[in-house]
Amino acid sequence: MARMKLGVLISGRGSNLQALIEAAKKEDYPAEVVLVISNRHNAKGLDHARSAGIETLVIDHNDFESRQAFDDAVHAGLVDAGVELVCLAGFMRLLDPEFVARWHNRMLNIHPSLLPAYRGLRTHERAIEDGVRFTGCTVHFVRPEMDAGPIVMQAVVPVRPTDTAVSLGRRVLDYEHRVYVESVRLVASGHVRVSGSRVTGKDLVIPENGLISPLQS
Ligand code: GAR
Repeated sequence: MARMKLGVLISGRGSNLQALIEAAKKEDYPAEVVLVISNRHNAKGLDHARSAGIETLVIDHNDFESRQAFDDAVHAGLVDAGVELVCLAGFMRLLDPEFVARWHNRMLNIHPSLLPAYRGLRTHERAIEDGVRFTGCTVHFVRPEMDAGPIVMQAVVPVRPTDTAVSLGRRVLDYEHRVYVESVRLVASGHVRVSGSRVTGKDLVIPENGLISPLQS
């Protein structure tokens, strides 16, 4: 079985990258990470890639005169490595619409909220401030607008009354790793179709029941 070649773009810790690397250790996983690109030299995630023997590239946006030139360098790196699906995993740079168009429906992002709520930064702080009962995480195909695009998978995570942004973030991150691995599995095995702004697929399993919080006794 030919596995789909992933290029993962990171800026920092790389725990989602690590989850994908771990998943791909199983032979029946339909994708493998062939390249990791970081826009920061000191991104911790680079170590995960190096210790797994995966090719890494550091493409520092400060070395480029324009966003376009930076994006071109990233694109060239991905193409050279034969990447078929790009995974943004904590990549904290907005990509040019032209770059996004080149990878149309071939680029995923993970975001720590139930999109379209809480795009951008400080998602957990804002969810706690707003008193929402549930938050979560989303994997979606990338469109030029920040943290937007057809949704592949989401996980719902309850917000506890005692939560801080740190405790909530930790719990959401656990689900991020799971939904990213499962989303890539679905996409790489051809189970999803993008139609307009929605992702569809006849084999997708959707839970039937909702959740209520706080529970009534
Ligand atoms: C993750 O929580 C990811 O959802 C978030 O950055 C973190 C990266 O963690 N991404 C965004 O906020 C994108 N808008 P990681 O480096 O450990 O994977």
